[in-house]
Amino acid sequence: MLVSAILILVLVAASAGAVLQPAGELQHVSLTARKVPKGHMASLRKRAGTSANIALDDYYNGTDLQWYGNIQVGTPPQDVSVIFDTGSSSLEFTSTECGEPCANQPKFNTSASSTYVSSDTFTTIPFVTGIGVDTLQYDDEYVLWLREGRDTVSVGGISTPNVSLYTIINQTQAFDADPNGGIQGMGPALTGFWPGLMDQGYDALFSLYLTPKSVGNAELTIGGIDSSKYTGNLIHAPMSAESDGYWALDSPAIYVNGQTTSTLSQNRTIIFDSGTPNVYFGSNNTVEAIYSSISPDIQPYAPEPGTYGIACDKIDELPAQIDLTFTDTNGEPFNLTIPSSDFNVGPFEAEPTLCQTMINYLDGLDLVGGSVLKHYYSVWDIANQQMAFAPNGLA
Ligand SMILES: *[C@@H]1O[C@H](CO)[C@@H](O)[C@H](O)[C@H]1NC(C)=O
Ligand SMILES: *[C@@H]1O[C@H](CO)[C@@H](O)[C@H](O)[C@H]1NC(C)=O
Ligand SMILES: *[C@@H]1O[C@H](CO)[C@@H](O)[C@H](O)[C@H]1NC(C)=O
Ligand SMILES: *[C@@H]1O[C@H](CO)[C@@H](O)[C@H](O)[C@H]1NC(C)=O
Ligand SMILES: *[C@@H]1O[C@H](CO)[C@@H](O)[C@H](O)[C@H]1NC(C)=O
Ligand SMILES: *[C@@H]1O[C@H](CO)[C@@H](O)[C@H](O)[C@H]1NC(C)=O
Ligand SMILES: *[C@@H]1O[C@H](CO)[C@@H](O)[C@H](O)[C@H]1NC(C)=O
Repeated sequence: MLVSAILILVLVAASAGAVLQPAGELQHVSLTARKVPKGHMASLRKRAGTSANIALDDYYNGTDLQWYGNIQVGTPPQDVSVIFDTGSSSLEFTSTECGEPCANQPKFNTSASSTYVSSDTFTTIPFVTGIGVDTLQYDDEYVLWLREGRDTVSVGGISTPNVSLYTIINQTQAFDADPNGGIQGMGPALTGFWPGLMDQGYDALFSLYLTPKSVGNAELTIGGIDSSKYTGNLIHAPMSAESDGYWALDSPAIYVNGQTTSTLSQNRTIIFDSGTPNVYFGSNNTVEAIYSSISPDIQPYAPEPGTYGIACDKIDELPAQIDLTFTDTNGEPFNLTIPSSDFNVGPFEAEPTLCQTMINYLDGLDLVGGSVLKHYYSVWDIANQQMAFAPNGLA
């Protein structure tokens, strides 16, 4: 995923007719990924108690693409709409310095903030991206130009001064359709607003209640767990030793409609990315093994390498339940299940009778996102470097 040594975001998307990545941002900002230093864990958790909720809106276009909400930046505070993206670890959003190229996004005015400090350092981020039902692009169609800076950032009403951030000062045209100007990285590192929150007594964890559009009321809880949002008990799982700065768990098996194969029973490290609706596997063999277990009529869609499809009039009758097995903190297996109803991502734009299937191939990347997280309440525990899941009771 990491294409060059410095700052590369990988942003992958696949969704029904989505124009932009909101469809799927997986972004990997290697510069900022930092694990919790050993020995800090205990001290991070000693002041428990408070938490704060942030309402999330569903960016929906034929399917649930991404969930976003507002943070406040600057003095006086300006609202900034962001995707809370567990696949990245930095904060970036459009600013008034980006004129026409950012015409469709809300813009932060750095001049209107008395606490904003620019470092006069600039960065360019090319994205490796896939869009909509559509393309996996590997060219320079998606590029952000960023100015590095610092300002006060308030998340859920909890304010942290002097947070490192990037303002977007130019972007390629492919971003036109993005309804949001921002991305708040929620990777498993104590960066950004977390040190400030912890100083104020909040636990270094957050929880996501991501719901389908028809249900609404999606919510991010900072510093706590809302036990009214799930059924049964949370199952806790340790981060993979191979997680490499991402939220990732070890998986010993994938089941398709209750069956596995030798290819599907290999160990994998699977990243959890709230910014991506669909599923990616990093080996063509894995993807082929899954699809051959579902229907021989599912075929690679050549114009968009890595994507697969089948005639739309055949797709909805296919049973295509995917169980991903993980290992809990007691060493016991548990499944996270993607029901058949998530399998159809919607028609390819250039071929409306052909529907994209949820699982894509992208070399070296094993990743799940909204299609799993929509069915579970999820807890992302930075302090203990573990995740937890319980069914959210929604279809
Ligand atoms: C939804 O998808 C359609 C088809 O791809 C596209 O034309 C439209 O602009 C999208 N709408 C939004 C709000 O993204
Ligand atoms: C940004 O804020 C400054 C200071 O308040 C103001 O003069 C300027 O007009 C604002 N720019 C935009 C584009 O709103
Ligand atoms: C903000 O953080 C930077 C980087 O750590 C530091 O150099 C600077 O002094 C800080 N500014 C304030 C006002 O604390
Ligand atoms: C913004 O980027 C585009 C390329 O997408 C470039 O053509 C344009 O000159 C840039 N604008 C500014 C103000 O730098
Ligand atoms: C996971 O799902 C598979 C297929 O449905 C099933 O055989 C297996 O027993 C499940 N594992 C657990 C721990 O529930
Ligand atoms: C998967 O990893 C587990 C735990 O490390 C190990 O016991 C098992 O043999 C591995 N399985 C395969 C197929 O490599
Ligand atoms: C994946 O494998 C299939 C069948 O073996 C092949 O047709 C296809 O071109 C391969 N795709 C990629 C991206 O390697």
